[in-house]
Amino acid sequence: MNIQRFTDGRALSQDLARRILAAIDRQPGLVLGLPTGRTPLPLYAALREQTPPAGTDWSAVRTFNLDEFVGLGASDQESYRAYMERELFAAVGVDPTHVGFLDGRAADPDAECGRYEEAIAAAGGIDLMILGIGANGHIGFNEPAPGLHARTHRARLQPGTRAANAALFGGDISRVPDEALSMGMATILRARSVILMATGAGKAAAVDAMIRGPITTMLPASFLQLHPDVTVMVDLAASPR
Ligand code: PGA
Repeated sequence: MNIQRFTDGRALSQDLARRILAAIDRQPGLVLGLPTGRTPLPLYAALREQTPPAGTDWSAVRTFNLDEFVGLGASDQESYRAYMERELFAAVGVDPTHVGFLDGRAADPDAECGRYEEAIAAAGGIDLMILGIGANGHIGFNEPAPGLHARTHRARLQPGTRAANAALFGGDISRVPDEALSMGMATILRARSVILMATGAGKAAAVDAMIRGPITTMLPASFLQLHPDVTVMVDLAASPR
């Protein structure tokens, strides 16, 4: 893994935004995998700032987000779909027909997961996957467990993960759904290139174990050691020893 250290989340985000925009300039039809949560908020702010009206053309970019809460859809303000619309898609001009998203309100969640895998394949696969990491080492909603799912699936959230998402729900953890739909480990590992971002001291132990520890389902991000093109961008607080 290629580890890159930055003084703080803002410097990290500015650098990553420049990298993403350069990738789109080189390949206008780039297929991007995207995360939600607190960590990428400064990245999306930097992408908005660095995409002036005559700047990088996002109109051919395709996106696939990692996950969505079961029971929530585009019209729910707490959904990840609504978060992405607010933070990125509308401001930079992603074509709504190019947005790939899991529908947490789908009547048949298993069929929805299958549809998502097919949509990613039909787009030619994910070129660049941007990831965060949970303090427990999760990626997407692939939580530590004796076994992990390879493909997009219905996942149960651990209490710490629900707590980390409470801000989206007015700070009320009881309103955070306990299930989500998430890309699986193989869905993530099939991306051609992966960049994981981690900021804050709360992530340091997970980052360290991801990089130096054994590959284990109890720390799902450790599977990134198997991928040939992973960059880990950290601020000083999250920096591995
Ligand atoms: P966070 O979540 O950015 O809100 O810490 C990261 C993650 O859970 O992947």
